Amino acid sequence: MLEQISELKAKALEELEASSSLIELDEWQNLYLSRKGQVKSLLKEIGKLEDPQDKKAAYGEINPLNKELERLLEERKESIQKAELDQQIASEREDTSLPGTTGGQGSMHPINTVLEEVCGIFERMGFQIWESPHVETDQNNFEMLNIPPHHPARDMQDTFYVSEDVVLRTHTSPGQVRAMRALAPEPIRVLLPGTVYRNEQITGRSEIQFNQVEGLAVGTNITMADLKGILEEFVHQFFGPDRRMVLRGSYFPFTEPSVEVDIDCNLCGGSGCGVCKKTGWLEILGAGVVHPKVLANGGYDPEIHSGFAFGLGIERMVMLRHGINDIRHFYSGNLRFLEQFD
Ligand code: DAH
Repeated sequence: MLEQISELKAKALEELEASSSLIELDEWQNLYLSRKGQVKSLLKEIGKLEDPQDKKAAYGEINPLNKELERLLEERKESIQKAELDQQIASEREDTSLPGTTGGQGSMHPINTVLEEVCGIFERMGFQIWESPHVETDQNNFEMLNIPPHHPARDMQDTFYVSEDVVLRTHTSPGQVRAMRALAPEPIRVLLPGTVYRNEQITGRSEIQFNQVEGLAVGTNITMADLKGILEEFVHQFFGPDRRMVLRGSYFPFTEPSVEVDIDCNLCGGSGCGVCKKTGWLEILGAGVVHPKVLANGGYDPEIHSGFAFGLGIERMVMLRHGINDIRHFYSGNLRFLEQFD
């Protein structure tokens, strides 16, 4: 029996030494120390021994062995756990010599850059920035601007209706009426920048959402000459001092007379190309002398007061400045496009 015990000990110690994971240790514990393990079965056999001397000697060996194996198991478990932890730490250690991954920095959208620049130019000429709502009444968007229901001018702007008499503003011009009503009868110079909405087919030239800057000046003795001077100053500051500008007669219901403003095409130098449709001129905005009805709707007496107004499209400004040929790029979210303007 003593021999069996020492054989068991030798085998158990050897296997314990060889086990290298917690799973193997579990298996080892099952094999030797569990209720059905080898130590327990030897104990049973010792119980069956006839000779009390032999029994005593065998117990004297197996009991300390049992304790020792348990102690060694714990020791081994701890050292394996420590080794596994060390290994994990080593594998997770960061290599500080690797180049870092930066979060990437955003930048201004080209539309916003130009919006700010345009606003800055007019602000320095004494215009005050005003905000007006994107969701407008039909009244302000059309009627107050001398565009009655069924007027053919409504065809110029396809409209998103929120309800029968509420719309998404199709232009920034309703802000004129709001500004006048808030400030009349004081002389005013306001600038109304913002997004406008039209229910149009999206193409390379038209989007359903774009940005305008509306300008309005009302006072006494304000004439077309003032409008021309202000716009010429703007064109020279924005496009450069050599840029030529012309006023071309046009029609808007809220101005009389109305004009469209063209600048010479910088792509062909005025000789005519695809971008300027062979005219040598590029349209940049609509403008005019404020219609007496609109002045009256804003709370001014058209006998005493006069004013000018203009509305320009920001997307068009950016496209002309950077030679962009498709308006859809702006809202594509395409970083390869946007990063060019960092
Ligand atoms: N609201 C016009 C449009 O969106 C642009 C415009 C033309 C604004 C003439 C004006 C103006 O203030 O006087 O097409």
